[in-house]
Amino acid sequence: MSLAVVGCSQLLTLAGPARPRVRQEMRELSIIEDGALFAAGGRILRTGTRREIEAGLPKGCEIVDAGGRVVAPGFVDAHTHPVFAGTRVDEYERRAAGATYREIAAAGGGIRATVRRTRLSSEDRLVRAAGRYAEWFLRTGTTMVEAKSGYGLTVEDELKMLRTIRRLAAETPLRWVPTFLGAHEVPDEYRQDRAGYVRLLIREMLPRVAEEKLAEYCDVFCEQGVFSVEEARAILAAAQNLGLKLRVHADQLSLSGGSRLAAELRAATADHLECAGEAEMEALAAAGVQPVLLPGSVYALGSTRYPDARAMIDRGLAVVLATDFNPGSSPTPSMPMVLSLASTHLKMTPAEAFTCATVNAAYSLGRGAEAGSLEPGKHADFVIHDCTDYREIAYFFGLEHARAVYIGGRRVELHSEGRGKWRQAD
Ligand code: NIG
Ligand code: FE
Repeated sequence: MSLAVVGCSQLLTLAGPARPRVRQEMRELSIIEDGALFAAGGRILRTGTRREIEAGLPKGCEIVDAGGRVVAPGFVDAHTHPVFAGTRVDEYERRAAGATYREIAAAGGGIRATVRRTRLSSEDRLVRAAGRYAEWFLRTGTTMVEAKSGYGLTVEDELKMLRTIRRLAAETPLRWVPTFLGAHEVPDEYRQDRAGYVRLLIREMLPRVAEEKLAEYCDVFCEQGVFSVEEARAILAAAQNLGLKLRVHADQLSLSGGSRLAAELRAATADHLECAGEAEMEALAAAGVQPVLLPGSVYALGSTRYPDARAMIDRGLAVVLATDFNPGSSPTPSMPMVLSLASTHLKMTPAEAFTCATVNAAYSLGRGAEAGSLEPGKHADFVIHDCTDYREIAYFFGLEHARAVYIGGRRVELHSEGRGKWRQAD
């Protein structure tokens, strides 16, 4: 089946070197005015002006007129925690009244509150809950997500979360990249025996995850009061030995050493970095680690301490932007919201933000050769946004811009009738 999309006021191809973009390259979106694309077999075959593309279309090719709108690669959300039971609206209300995220966590709430609920939930229920969030991602124009476990924290409950992600990958049109985050928090029953939990992670959980091939990446929440640098190093090194690639929650609430550890272990990414300074950025640059910035969590925690994106770009770091979608610190699935925060608070141009949310994000997930830009050979994963200038996607905030979403060249039904029903139009 072949498909042509014509009448794009701007076709953002993001065509460029086959690697993550840095410095000035981040402002170059390779836009084709009055653009068009031709796809077949789920892949992009050609992009060009309307005239160029229309000239060579095969008989029977479906033609979609974008009506003078922006067409861009689907967003790649490289950091999410979408599998969890319940919400934390109660904590949200307490924070609105003055309690802090850390106080609530120290008193047994926060991540551990979601863990208690998630343990009680069946795999089927988790698939239904996360399936609803998958629809939200799609509706905002996201076509690929990285998804972490981390609300189970026992062997069986972590495997249950990863199997949930595997089912979502089979049952929803979204593309999923699974990450094992058993080291998200020390669970209630190990509070007096931290070393015992680290042993459980290394000796039991990681070998099972690797054996069942349930995750591509391993992540650790390296933070004061959560996992120390030494504990995180032991867990990540064990994961690396089993063939998993690494991501690290680093220097979020304090300068806890996570970025330096990510550099030492040559992790794919160091995520958050609100508290990272010059030396940390230098180490990440030297080791080729990509920073994943999550301004949604800064905003939702009511903080003003945003990461220093400009300094990272100046150092040549291949920055990524993601939502951090989770029930505590960042309850948003919206990449357009993240683009708005990036331009307003991280002082990134809309073009830089777009690069970080697409092609750079795809490279951080090992998917750079197949996603993140509209270049021949890559997946035909693209979005028709309801605007004529791509900068409007960051500028008008608090609404969704995606009008149609295509994955593998097929249009996704964005509003299903009931929960857990996902369809792609034929
Ligand atoms: O990335 N930092 C640790 N984990 C999440 C928060 C998860 C939660 O609060 O449930 C984050 O912000
Ligand atoms: Fe996170």
